[in-house]
Amino acid sequence: MGEKMRLDKLLSNMGLGSRKEMNDALRYGWVKVNGVVMKYGKEKVDVETDEILYEGKPVKYQKYATLIMNKPQGVISATDDHRHQTVVDLLEEPWCNMNLFPVGRLDIDTEGLLILTNDGAFSHNLLSPKKHVPKTYYAKIDKPVDEKDIEIFASGATLEDDYLCKPAELKVIDVNESGISEIELVIYEGKFHQVKRMFESVDKNVIYLKRVKMGGLDLDPELMLGEYRELTEAEMDLLKMK
Ligand code: URA
Repeated sequence: MGEKMRLDKLLSNMGLGSRKEMNDALRYGWVKVNGVVMKYGKEKVDVETDEILYEGKPVKYQKYATLIMNKPQGVISATDDHRHQTVVDLLEEPWCNMNLFPVGRLDIDTEGLLILTNDGAFSHNLLSPKKHVPKTYYAKIDKPVDEKDIEIFASGATLEDDYLCKPAELKVIDVNESGISEIELVIYEGKFHQVKRMFESVDKNVIYLKRVKMGGLDLDPELMLGEYRELTEAEMDLLKMK
């Protein structure tokens, strides 16, 4: 025996549509439970043992969903906003009906790995400062990044508000002839605008920023900007790794 849930709620939570749409579908006779057409959304079903068909197709109950997205620039890491498109606006059915929210934030102009979930505990765990889940960023910096910056970041950069950052690992990938640097930075915390502020503390500016890894999980190179997919259990475990 599993948890009991209203039929309209279960169908809606599984991303098949709004509660209202599910009640319409029920009235049209599109839903069967254990072989019997059910007309009322208020009926309770057992999420594990009852066999539910929607338009003849089995509905498998899944309590939580977690997605990986390659966030594009121009969208904000929120669930709704009156000015900008949000990462949740990028989701199609069934995901847009599943109350997913972003785990932490990437700035509007930052790209890359963003996790969306409706599992509050999972999100909380990933964001917990005690867990120190590493986040790896690739960035372009407007000036040459040198050994001194590497040392400062390794011992802890001091931000403009005197916040002392945790030690971070900075690697210079390339400095081109115009002095623009490509770098990779691993941080173990997630303060507001942290990467940008760390570089500002050494008089440099981030001109492009992309998160490429969280915990042990790399951004999937198959995901184009704005694309997303569900994470596997194994990938969810990788995320939590140091
Ligand atoms: N650091 C930043 O400055 N911005 C981000 O979006 C993420 C980390």
